[in-house]
Amino acid sequence: MKKLPLPDDPNVLVGTEDDAGIYRLSDELALVATTDFFTPIVDDPYYFGAIAVANALSDVWAMGGRPLFALNLVAFPEKELPLEVLQEILRGGSDKAREAGVSIIGGHTIKDPEPKYGLAVVGVIHPDKIVTSGRARPGDRLILTKPLGTGIISTAIKFGRCPEAAERRAVETMLVLNKRAAEIMLEVGVSACKDITGFGLLGHLREMVARSGVAAKIYASRVPALPHALELAAKKIIPGGTKANIKSLAETVIYANGQSDAVKFLLNDPQTSGGLLISVPAERAALLLDKLQAAGLEEAQIVGEILPEPAGKIVVED
Ligand code: CO
Ligand code: CO
Repeated sequence: MKKLPLPDDPNVLVGTEDDAGIYRLSDELALVATTDFFTPIVDDPYYFGAIAVANALSDVWAMGGRPLFALNLVAFPEKELPLEVLQEILRGGSDKAREAGVSIIGGHTIKDPEPKYGLAVVGVIHPDKIVTSGRARPGDRLILTKPLGTGIISTAIKFGRCPEAAERRAVETMLVLNKRAAEIMLEVGVSACKDITGFGLLGHLREMVARSGVAAKIYASRVPALPHALELAAKKIIPGGTKANIKSLAETVIYANGQSDAVKFLLNDPQTSGGLLISVPAERAALLLDKLQAAGLEEAQIVGEILPEPAGKIVVED
């Protein structure tokens, strides 16, 4: 997309640079639009559908918007898999959308050797209340609302090497909507936000620091992890995207304490339906964390802070 010409319509308030596109309709109202879909990451089709919906809606919440309705995007091998599997995927998606207060009002299905599911989502936002990733300020604290490791656990599931309890926790985590976290973030007032998906914690933090013209420090030992994620990572059970993520950050991230490979794999683990990474002024960090934990996001944690310089860099300490 970087090679395409930028749209010159002045009503495009946010383009490809952030989690969702935002289009102004009036001074009081803008549309938020985003789409996401992917191949199954868990064996159960119902949960796959529900997780795909939680994941697709997340970009609207990450920007402070409210999703209104969505369209199903479906690819399915009708000859290789029974139609009941597709019905279960869609039922999972429909239930999750209902929980979110979002109506699914259409969609499109194609034949494809590999099943895929997701949504195109439309929401609304006030043009003056957009939370971008580009306004993190020195002194801000960084709060992460969900534990990391869904990529590691999904890979272990694929290889049949995932302890059952770990799979259950990972599925529960991915099923959690970022809706409450986003509502609380708007109540408290924050500087910047991004949801954590394919580029991992450090990759999405890179976008935040680069766009904000600041640096960041991450305290690795405070970063919440799913049970068994670190020990699976130590056995190199990691998704294909992790090493590409690490490589793309070679000039950005400084591992100040020579962290283990397992820790690096976790901090760069591609997430599905990951949490929000919120940059919040220091004086409001404790309040935000308290409210998130009181709302049931018990693993939410302050994982780092924003520094003035060296701009664009991320330092990882223990
Ligand atoms: Co996003
Ligand atoms: Co997205």
